[in-house]
Amino acid sequence: EIFPTSTEGSHYAAGEIAKLIRQKQEENKPCVLGLATGSTPISMYKELVRMHKEEGLSFKNVITFNLDEYFPITKTAFQSYWSFMHRHLFDHIDIKPENIHIPNGDLSKEEAKKHCIEYEQMIDDAGGIDLQVLGIGNNGHIGFNEPGSSIFSKTHITNLDNSTRVANAREFQNISKVPRLALTMGISTIMKAKRVLLMAWGFKAPIIAKAMEGNVTEQVPASILQQHNNCTFILDEQAASEL
Ligand code: GLP
Repeated sequence: EIFPTSTEGSHYAAGEIAKLIRQKQEENKPCVLGLATGSTPISMYKELVRMHKEEGLSFKNVITFNLDEYFPITKTAFQSYWSFMHRHLFDHIDIKPENIHIPNGDLSKEEAKKHCIEYEQMIDDAGGIDLQVLGIGNNGHIGFNEPGSSIFSKTHITNLDNSTRVANAREFQNISKVPRLALTMGISTIMKAKRVLLMAWGFKAPIIAKAMEGNVTEQVPASILQQHNNCTFILDEQAASEL
């Protein structure tokens, strides 16, 4: 789906999520959302908050699982994805705190490995992800699944590519402060979601062309989504300009 601007694309994504939440409410069922961080989904979260405040969209039946988190990092650090999600969404809606799941970056490495297994299990126990929101890294990463990640990967601890650390350095004081590791849902975790919405704006055009029209390869993790049976790429004109 191509929109003239990222704002219109974000409103479309928020509208799709709101529709699903309401449909599940009518069915008296929980709505399980997989959520992403980064600059890309910020306006979508803003629109969801507006829908909550102005249109009475309730998140009481919503269960969320975030894709990833830096490791190690304390929850309350400004750069943590825990802080990001509360700042942009959770602090402004009526979601039940016990329904929020974000990988915990504040553990020892041994504990984190166990936590990843439990996280994957919690997603299964919730009935799987109904709708997964994704951004895309310039190297084609989804979540923190960097090029070369196995299509069979589940939630795991991973090394960040140097290019990812450089791209994300803006959130930190300097590059040396960017964690070298992260916890992330795996490619197989993402592929199991019933529906996927990947958003990309502006300068992402070259990697969008590779992901959508190039070979399906673990070297471009987002290209694996070509094999998902219900995946929509939501783009602005500029991100779609090399298709
Ligand atoms: C981060 C996140 C990804 C995100 C990507 C793009 O590293 N782990 O989930 O999609 O980078 O970020 P942005 O939306 O800021 O371009």
